[in-house]
Amino acid sequence: MTLDERNENPLRVLAISGSLRKASFNTGLLRAAREIAPDGMEITIFDIKDLPFYDGDVESQGDPAPVTALKSAVRDADAVLFATPEYNWGTSGALKNAIDWASRDREEGSLMGKPGTIIGAGGRAGTARAQMQLLETLGETGTIVMVKPGVMVMAFAPMKFDSEGNLIDEETKELLRRHLDEFTKWITQLIQPREFVPHACEMDLAPAQA
Ligand SMILES: Cc1cc2nc3c(=O)[nH]c(=O)nc-3n(C[C@H](O)[C@H](O)[C@H](O)COP(=O)(O)O)c2cc1C
Repeated sequence: MTLDERNENPLRVLAISGSLRKASFNTGLLRAAREIAPDGMEITIFDIKDLPFYDGDVESQGDPAPVTALKSAVRDADAVLFATPEYNWGTSGALKNAIDWASRDREEGSLMGKPGTIIGAGGRAGTARAQMQLLETLGETGTIVMVKPGVMVMAFAPMKFDSEGNLIDEETKELLRRHLDEFTKWITQLIQPREFVPHACEMDLAPAQA
């Protein structure tokens, strides 16, 4: 596909930040990604703040509106970009919760078989441990995750973001640019027309909930 064709029909990337705070570095990373996205990639940020906690009883009454919105945003996207903080060596409860809801959609267009990637900004390990945990979770959802080249930002010293969470560090912007360039190739390879193969998940073993 030529660049002109790609610009007419951009890759739609859904971006989800695992942090709910206003001046979040992770949401700031996603805003920066939206700004510097390569030609032919369009990034939309989805706010997970309004999602309730996953509850099978709530689900059995019908998805609440924010859950419906999340599932349809995932379906409308060619790929998903996750930005995770690190909380106690893991991803945030908010992001895990969003993925739990999204994973309940098992049809074509859902996370299963969808290209994805993970970036993050946090403490000393730059979210390496959170990203590894998230990778395991996404494995179970069937998301096909690109790991390299990777963006793991040690956010604090020296500060890489301003007081509103905007990314101000040029080196990190360059890392992000490189990651998004590779992500474009990853998505392009994976979204060629092909047969949708739903795989079994652990939830298939759960009694009476599917
Ligand atoms: C409850 C809590 C636990 C945290 N645990 C870790 C941790 O285990 N490792 C780490 O590197 N940073 C840890 N941090 C620091 C966060 O990763 C850091 O504040 C990050 O900037 C939060 O993301 P945000 O700016 O997008 O909100 C923790 C912060 C909180 C609030």
